[in-house]
Amino acid sequence: MAKPAKTYVCAACGSVFPKWAGRCEACGAWNTLEEQLAPQTMPGGIKPVGRRTGAKIEFVGLEGTSPPPPRVPTTIAEFDRVLGGGLVPASVVMVGGDPGIGKSTLLLQASAALGRAGKRVLYITGEESVDQIRLRAARLGLSKSPVELAAATQLGDILASLGQFPDAALVVIDSIQTMWTDTVDSAPGSVTQVRAAAFELIRAAKAQGFSLLLVGHVTKEGSLAGPRVLEHMVDVVLHFEGDRGHQFRILRGVKNRFGATDEIGVFEMTGQGLAEVLNPSALFLAERRGNVSGSAVFAGLEGSRPVLVEIQCLLAPNPGGSPRRSVIGWDSGRLSMLLAVLETRCGLKLAMNDVYLNVAGGLRVNEPAADLAVAAALISAASDVPTDPQMVFFGEIGLSGELRQVAQAELRLKEAAKLGFGRAASPKRVAGGAAKIAVPKTLALVELGHLTDLVGVVATGQKPGRKEEQE
Ligand code: TYD
Ligand code: MG
Repeated sequence: MAKPAKTYVCAACGSVFPKWAGRCEACGAWNTLEEQLAPQTMPGGIKPVGRRTGAKIEFVGLEGTSPPPPRVPTTIAEFDRVLGGGLVPASVVMVGGDPGIGKSTLLLQASAALGRAGKRVLYITGEESVDQIRLRAARLGLSKSPVELAAATQLGDILASLGQFPDAALVVIDSIQTMWTDTVDSAPGSVTQVRAAAFELIRAAKAQGFSLLLVGHVTKEGSLAGPRVLEHMVDVVLHFEGDRGHQFRILRGVKNRFGATDEIGVFEMTGQGLAEVLNPSALFLAERRGNVSGSAVFAGLEGSRPVLVEIQCLLAPNPGGSPRRSVIGWDSGRLSMLLAVLETRCGLKLAMNDVYLNVAGGLRVNEPAADLAVAAALISAASDVPTDPQMVFFGEIGLSGELRQVAQAELRLKEAAKLGFGRAASPKRVAGGAAKIAVPKTLALVELGHLTDLVGVVATGQKPGRKEEQE
């Protein structure tokens, strides 16, 4: 008999390899490859190709009347926004995030909200004891909410018990890494176990029609199977992000089979749990101090939602050796590019300086539209002139120093005006290019063609001939 084939799967990214190696070739993580049995050696074996028996499947056209999926709102607006309007029955949502970021808190709050709305909610914890969850519920003021709580890790028990709740609307599993099934012969938390457990739970959710919320810890070491290996199995993947030193938490949609990704929900961790932040810009700018050089406000966009954040930059002299470039909340490669463009196209001398860049409040900005705000912060730091405190910045910068249009300028301007900003620096609109945008009455648009114009605006504090287009 042929020796059973083995494959090795990376716990961090889920890539499969025929041979073991110390480092995953796909994602570069160390010591994350784990042995797993190849599918063809699993019980039952593979079916012969070209089998001609079985029921006929029906094919239909693309056009038809398929109603949108029903939604069960959790009544936590920020959570529903990221889900695309609420939980979809029989769908599977995975909430990933670093340990301690607040996943259990969020899911307990969502469970309680749904329970109070009259739905049957089962909360199964494999991480904590029932007493600990009760303590948390008391702290959150949710003790009276109708949520059915259990501590269990053995999947057989869980599935058997779930069968007794045909009317369950939501089942929370905290966390998938603690669940294990005796049908698979490997340690809890290993890729094989986590996959098998998730598969069984997902099957139960589809069969019984409840929404399944899975918690997945993300670990850098890969000692636990990262939720990434489950990403293709679930319908929705959300990341709960934030810095434990900050109170802001961001729930980000990474994958959503029923709605838009890139939506964010913003929360604030308080003494009584997570509070929704309905106006994130005001929060992110709350601690901004005017008249300090090296700071600029970026009019950003997270999904469909405008968010203003402060970009901070500090330059420290470093005459010898290689200068440091340290970035929190933005892409370091992009910073290097901007520094090079500023040096080459605008003659700004930054090579003898350490550069520290920070997006205040713990937000992570992914948009190239932040280029202009970062450049403004850098120029302001280099010239020690504060940027106009009434001004927001957005726009992409090209390698020749030219400024490029970015999407949704109107939304950004509106948000800036709403928060009381009077001026917005943005790339010049090309004649015959994008449609005319409506500029709020209280806001003056400062259109810039090239990065050198920005140096003029920031470094000299001079306000160029403003083009005001008001509608
Ligand atoms: P938790 O939900 O247990 O995180 P996770 O499930 O992602 O591991 O929350 C962890 C942190 O949140 C913990 O350090 C304490 C803090 N916390 C608050 O600040 N306020 C609260 O009301 C609660 C319940 C927790
Ligand atoms: Mg937890």
